[in-house]
Amino acid sequence: MTSLYGYPSAEHQIPKKLKILELRNNLNSIKGHVAIRYFGWIMITIIFQVSIVVFLSRAAPQLPPLVSTQHFKLPPAEECKSGRVYVYNLSPVFNKWFLDNCHDIDPWSSRCNAVSNSGFGPKATGLEVVVPENLAPAWFWTDMYAAEVIYHHRMLNYSCRTLEPKLATAFYIPFYAGLAVGKFLWYNYTAKDRDRHGEMVMRWVQDQPYWPRSNGSDHFIMLGRLTWDFRRLTDSDTEWGSKFIYMPSMKNVMRLAVERSPWDDLEVSVPYPTAFHPRSNSELVQWQSFISARKRTSLFCFVGATRKKIKNDFRGLLMSYCKNESDSCRVVDCAATHCYDGAPAILEAFLESYFCLQPKGDGFTRRSFFDCMLAGSIPVYFWKGSFMNQYRWHLPGAYESYSVFIDHTDVRNGSSIRKVLERYSEKEVRSMRERIIELVPKFVYSWSTQDLGNTKDAFDIAIDGVLRTFKEQSERP
Ligand SMILES: *[C@@H]1O[C@H](CO)[C@@H](O)[C@H](O)[C@H]1NC(C)=O
Ligand SMILES: *[C@@H]1O[C@H](CO)[C@@H](O)[C@H](O)[C@H]1NC(C)=O
Ligand SMILES: *[C@@H]1O[C@H](CO)[C@@H](O)[C@H](O)[C@H]1NC(C)=O
Ligand SMILES: *[C@@H]1O[C@H](CO)[C@@H](O)[C@H](O)[C@H]1NC(C)=O
Ligand SMILES: *[C@@H]1O[C@H](CO)[C@@H](O)[C@H](O)[C@H]1NC(C)=O
Repeated sequence: MTSLYGYPSAEHQIPKKLKILELRNNLNSIKGHVAIRYFGWIMITIIFQVSIVVFLSRAAPQLPPLVSTQHFKLPPAEECKSGRVYVYNLSPVFNKWFLDNCHDIDPWSSRCNAVSNSGFGPKATGLEVVVPENLAPAWFWTDMYAAEVIYHHRMLNYSCRTLEPKLATAFYIPFYAGLAVGKFLWYNYTAKDRDRHGEMVMRWVQDQPYWPRSNGSDHFIMLGRLTWDFRRLTDSDTEWGSKFIYMPSMKNVMRLAVERSPWDDLEVSVPYPTAFHPRSNSELVQWQSFISARKRTSLFCFVGATRKKIKNDFRGLLMSYCKNESDSCRVVDCAATHCYDGAPAILEAFLESYFCLQPKGDGFTRRSFFDCMLAGSIPVYFWKGSFMNQYRWHLPGAYESYSVFIDHTDVRNGSSIRKVLERYSEKEVRSMRERIIELVPKFVYSWSTQDLGNTKDAFDIAIDGVLRTFKEQSERP
């Protein structure tokens, strides 16, 4: 049996009981991971967010707020071959409220910068010395979990949007599920706290006239956080996350997320937002030639903070390795440098290295993969799950043509990362970099597509994919 996307579906091959077991095992390992990361996370988040706040409190100029529908005009039908999207007009408590109350939706600090400018964040400063001067205004301190706000912003002005539900192929639920759960993931908050908004919004959506037509199978949502934050299996207050994805009403609803579950065919991962948001095709092309011509001085680099509380921390190992190999490795130690999203020191390290080391992040994936590729640096990853089964619509499946895999167990066993990388010829390295440079338009989020010409960015590719999937589904007998 094939899945929705035409590749064999694990769902159908594994007996149900085994599947649940597998799911539980996976979740357990993820939960273990969550427990491990808990401490480091708190520390790192505090350090990051404090540094962001300190850095950004010098007030960034604000761009216009979420677009309204007033300039909205239907494009000709042939431009929307796969159909149109209807955006539910939800009560502001499910989206705008979180922007208005951004100072109080995180246990530690304000999220106001993170959600500002329709999710693109404050304008970046201090990058004029790193990027071509005329491109500096296209850089923002974008938060890695802001995609649900960005998608909403882009969707309101999407050319294949319809204001008529009866003309819609897809229904978009603009609920900020990640912002809604963010504060309640920690401390003494209860399972009920984490589920409240999700239950409310789905109760409302199920009451809408177009729901029973499909019971959700032509509906979709964007999740700005990793899928693992919405997959609590029990009602235990101590278990991680909300149960949003496991709610019966969500059973048929498609989800876009920055990291998907490899065992869930209704979920598709989309790139994390990076800091570059080109305003036109010429800015994109200029960036591509800039990173192509960039002189690189280090074989590889590592950007990160070690998580000292974690025994055998892999990041600590990479950090130590990189420091020992200082002739070929450039290190940005986030315990010593401000590593907010898109910081000049990070961008510079990626721009000046041929390869960048990418351990797991909060899940298997990490925003830094995209920051690295955006700078034309080749990602080196250590867990298969970091690429495999992710970003299927945005990145080609031939990962080896633009990335390097070294198993983490081999690294722990002392195999030399430098030797592995030195084995690639200059020509091979150039070819991988060229592949990445071609991919850049597919994983950036532009401010709007108005001046992007025929280029499709990460948002366009994601929504095209949703529409195509729903159209195929409706045409199936
Ligand atoms: C959690 O609850 C316990 C008992 O109700 C309380 O003593 C503790 O201070 C709370 N912790 C936080 C971080 O709120
Ligand atoms: C949707 O669910 C309702 C209630 O369970 C059921 O009666 C109806 O047939 C379903 N509609 C479709 C299209 O599956
Ligand atoms: C780096 O060098 C130090 C001192 O020689 C050594 O103890 C450590 O194990 C090395 N780290 C790695 C990852 O090889
Ligand atoms: C790591 O080294 C141990 C001991 O030498 C060996 O048994 C194991 O197979 C090695 N693992 C890998 C992945 O090479
Ligand atoms: C939305 O689209 C209209 C028409 O294409 C355009 O004039 C307007 O500037 C766009 N707004 C944004 C914020 O992209």
